[in-house]
Amino acid sequence: MHLLYFILTIYFFRNVRADVVLDRTTDPSILEDASLDTFSLIRKYGFPCEIHRVYTEDKYILEMHRIPHGRDDVSAVGRPVVFLQHGLLSSSAEWVLMLPGKGLAYILAEAGYDVWMGNARGNTYSKHHVSLNPTSSSFWKFSWHEIGYYDLPAMIDYVIKETGVPKIHYIGFSQGTTAFWVMTSTRPEYNDKIVAMQALAPVAYVGNVRSPLIKAIAPFTNSMEILFKLLGRNEFLPNGKVNELAGQSYCVEEAITQVLCTNLLFLLCGFNVEQLNATMLPVVLGHTPAGASTRQVIHFGQLYNSNKFVQFDHGWLSNKRRYGTFKPPAYNLTAITTPVFLHYADNDWLSTPNDVDKLLKEVNSAVGKYRVPLAKFNHLDFVFAINAKELIYDRLLNIMKLFNK
Ligand SMILES: *[C@@H]1O[C@H](CO)[C@@H](O)[C@H](O)[C@H]1NC(C)=O
Ligand SMILES: *[C@@H]1O[C@H](CO)[C@@H](O)[C@H](O)[C@H]1NC(C)=O
Repeated sequence: MHLLYFILTIYFFRNVRADVVLDRTTDPSILEDASLDTFSLIRKYGFPCEIHRVYTEDKYILEMHRIPHGRDDVSAVGRPVVFLQHGLLSSSAEWVLMLPGKGLAYILAEAGYDVWMGNARGNTYSKHHVSLNPTSSSFWKFSWHEIGYYDLPAMIDYVIKETGVPKIHYIGFSQGTTAFWVMTSTRPEYNDKIVAMQALAPVAYVGNVRSPLIKAIAPFTNSMEILFKLLGRNEFLPNGKVNELAGQSYCVEEAITQVLCTNLLFLLCGFNVEQLNATMLPVVLGHTPAGASTRQVIHFGQLYNSNKFVQFDHGWLSNKRRYGTFKPPAYNLTAITTPVFLHYADNDWLSTPNDVDKLLKEVNSAVGKYRVPLAKFNHLDFVFAINAKELIYDRLLNIMKLFNK
């Protein structure tokens, strides 16, 4: 039953995307946004943008995007620096898909920040490695552990070197927070490189998630081979198996309304039609999913099963070899010393209030938690909601301002 639900979820998700983007007769400029990359999108709306390449210790090549200043400024000198890390299956585009005045990266740039956006290994912009080919399995042997352990430190060190500031602000969304907890607990020296951490929809403990996707995967995480067969051994949601199982597209049929497709898409993360601007949907779908490894998703499934925040479970024999213990070790959250602000919402299917509380209690440097004052606010609303600025970003900027001299 779970499995069927799961296959259908993925199947709709795959097909909604192309269909809405291609078939909707909507504003040509919006349609264009669906296909522009992050760099071109930012330039189109009159902001400066730079592309930077970063090498990780384990030789992945990551692409970062920078908005050095706002539209009316001329230089990045003297501006506080902020680093933004996207969520699962997403990319730097997440921060600029909504137009200027709405997208967080634009708002930060206009508010005086030098904005840097990361891209995790395996997504659209970071599918490169010095010697491994993304068509090979070796390339995809990572979860968000490696994103936190290798990618974030590499990108943060790069930003600090490039800008010459001693510390930078960090804003993470969803998996962008998970990777941050990994980094600051496994490499505590990175705590001192961050001014403050703003966690949008924080994810560490996931025992209470309501996401059908995670729940569907959870029963199979002990039989990795089954999951690999269904989801692909390497990249998550590959063309092929799942699509074959599902056959022809549903959403192409006219009877399926856009709203229904919207619901199915957001089944993955929870949905809230009221805060979703349907006009902008093609843009969101044109940039998501942006690529992730199957292991990233499996790792979340494992956390759901164990209700712990622990490293990847490779099976007890491999665990013993890698970690020295039969069970994967827990991340040491008490090692986190960066001031942490947790922004959460009641209706969030992935970052649930109970799980956020659990995290809050374990992070000694957590300053507080901030509830979004809207009952139906869900996971993706943190980056795409019509009223995200009024509901979250204004407060976020006020908190960040306290740290700038
Ligand atoms: C939805 O997006 C369109 C295109 O960007 C915009 O013109 C419209 O004002 C937005 N609607 C709301 C309710 O924000
Ligand atoms: C966790 O980190 C704290 C602070 O750095 C340290 O005192 C403690 O020994 C660590 N615990 C484990 C189990 O490594």
